[in-house]
Amino acid sequence: MPWWYAVAERDHEIQNPTSPEKILLLGERLRLGADSDVLDIACGKGGPAVLLAREFGCRITGVERAPEFASVARERVAAAGLNGRIEIVERDATEFELESERYDVAMCLGASFVWGGLEGTLVALAPTVRGAGHVVVGEPYWRRWPLPEGVADEGFVALAETAARFANAGLRLETLIASSPDDWDRYETLHWRALEEWLDANPDDPDADELRRRHEAYRDEYLHRQRELLGWAIFAARRFYAARSSAGSASSARNVSDSSGCRLGPPASTSSSSKIACAWGSRGLASHSARNHE
Ligand SMILES: C[S@@+](CC[C@H](N)C(=O)[O-])C[C@H]1O[C@@H](n2cnc3c(N)ncnc32)[C@H](O)[C@@H]1O
Repeated sequence: MPWWYAVAERDHEIQNPTSPEKILLLGERLRLGADSDVLDIACGKGGPAVLLAREFGCRITGVERAPEFASVARERVAAAGLNGRIEIVERDATEFELESERYDVAMCLGASFVWGGLEGTLVALAPTVRGAGHVVVGEPYWRRWPLPEGVADEGFVALAETAARFANAGLRLETLIASSPDDWDRYETLHWRALEEWLDANPDDPDADELRRRHEAYRDEYLHRQRELLGWAIFAARRFYAARSSAGSASSARNVSDSSGCRLGPPASTSSSSKIACAWGSRGLASHSARNHE
């Protein structure tokens, strides 16, 4: 059987229910520039990475598991003349070393399942962001709560509870870019067209019946329930500032503690010796490395 997503997402520039305009808005909100280092986990065919690097000149490391998508991403990067700005690493994200405090932005659009959901993704990504950088996640949420009977929550929650997961991870939510019905329709119906065209072109394929069954089931689910109930948004949250470790700046009037015990203050030096004075920083790193890097 051909890989479902290689067929269904053949024509997608961006493999999520969002738009090029919203990706560029994200870049503006993050204040990306030529000095910014961005990690793009599960970068797919590189749609968001190419848009951001072309517009803002930032450096991007994209990590993608599927060879089908990583190769398209590399072609797109080359065609856009961005080889010097974007590197595509073909690897399972759980096997990619998340260097401590390496990036200004760590982003994962539409793949929080890599770490078992949003909470695990925040634990994994926050320590790789330096200073007051950003963790960005594209994530579904339920528009209606409680859900109608018979609809499984799939681990997602309502919008406010989704936002609360960032706060619980010690992150300050700063930007929300939600998908419109048009974004959803474009994303979903590009699947339909690609699948219909593939089925027309391969009527005798032994897997054609199974592909049609699955395509029609997904389409019906979208029309009957998902379009009304499921939202999706890009959430961009900032790390707490790391306090400087020297006695002088630690006693500075601008360094204060918040209620969670994280020290707030001016952006720290980004040198590797800077320490994150926030409890979750060390906890998150430890639990992440225990699960994925040992
Ligand atoms: C919904 S798509 C999003 C792609 C891209 N972020 C975008 O917005 O266009 C999810 C991507 O996650 C990739 N993926 C799934 N599991 C992965 C893993 N464990 N490591 C790296 N990539 C993974 C898939 O191959 C797919 O390209």
